[in-house]
Amino acid sequence: MLTEAQDYLSGQTLCDYFHVSRTAVWKAIRQLQEEGYEIEAVRNRGYRLIRKDDIYSQTGIASALKTKWLGHNLVFMEATDSSNNQVRRLAEQGAAEGTVVVADRQDAGKGRRGRSWLSAEGSGVWMSFLLRPQFQPERASMLTLVTALAVADGICETTGLDCGIKWPNDLVVGGKKVCGILTEMSSDMDTIQYVVVGIGINVGMRKFPEELRETATSLELCLGEPEESVNRVKLIDAVLRHWEERYDAFLQKMDLSLLQDDYQRKLVNVENQVRVLGYSEDYVGISHGITPTGELIVELNDGEVRKVTSGEVSVRGVYGYV
Ligand code: BTN
Repeated sequence: MLTEAQDYLSGQTLCDYFHVSRTAVWKAIRQLQEEGYEIEAVRNRGYRLIRKDDIYSQTGIASALKTKWLGHNLVFMEATDSSNNQVRRLAEQGAAEGTVVVADRQDAGKGRRGRSWLSAEGSGVWMSFLLRPQFQPERASMLTLVTALAVADGICETTGLDCGIKWPNDLVVGGKKVCGILTEMSSDMDTIQYVVVGIGINVGMRKFPEELRETATSLELCLGEPEESVNRVKLIDAVLRHWEERYDAFLQKMDLSLLQDDYQRKLVNVENQVRVLGYSEDYVGISHGITPTGELIVELNDGEVRKVTSGEVSVRGVYGYV
């Protein structure tokens, strides 16, 4: 109501609308002020929002979300160990499908293959969401590819940057990684209890530690202008909206056949030499894109064609990261 009001909103109007007391209104205003909203309170006139910028807070994100269901249960945290862990804990307590956790900082951010993920405050989108899908556990790895496509869409809508996908799920701009995705699942042999999809987008990082400098970048570094800043609230909304769309397409066929063309168009390591780093062996071949179920098709030098399943391996360029 404050965002839409042209003038001061009286305390009484808010009390009548929400059927609450003056004290309750005043408490809610105080909470918004604590989240960073500048709200002027004038005796006999009421309340007025001074700046209408999006704020990275529970209210700021919740009121910007235009999704159909994803994130309608939203948990914003200034800090947590890992938003994936937080969603797991909520899942164990019975949280609903579509619950989203956004953390401004993670103290134990997790990457794939047991690595850690740098997640300083103010510098990225670190978020995870909960799914309780009805399909077979072996289909879950495709969700990572669905997510990669949706994040690429969201980044493009918010920043205009053209994001490539390094199979299965790294998003790259200018040959460097801007986003990683970690999908975790709790299941038994044939039933999924829940899936946690975690997305880490480097937004404002200006410097990376030595060991990441060659391979990692951030959206703001890619945009170049020092004053160019990316609105994280709009980015979250865009990613989650696109995710719903892409997931609908996935559910129609229970595979990636409706998404394969779009995915392939963004694939950076297509028709390139790639090195597949498996648990037991490494090999080099030419990548020919993905199958409708998300495996990477790799042709070895002797003509043998292998379908590489995500999860087992890491794929690199022969001469560098991409
Ligand atoms: C990768 O290694 O590429 C995956 C990185 C995934 C990072 C995100 S940040 C939000 C979510 N919480 C985590 O602990 N990890 C994921």
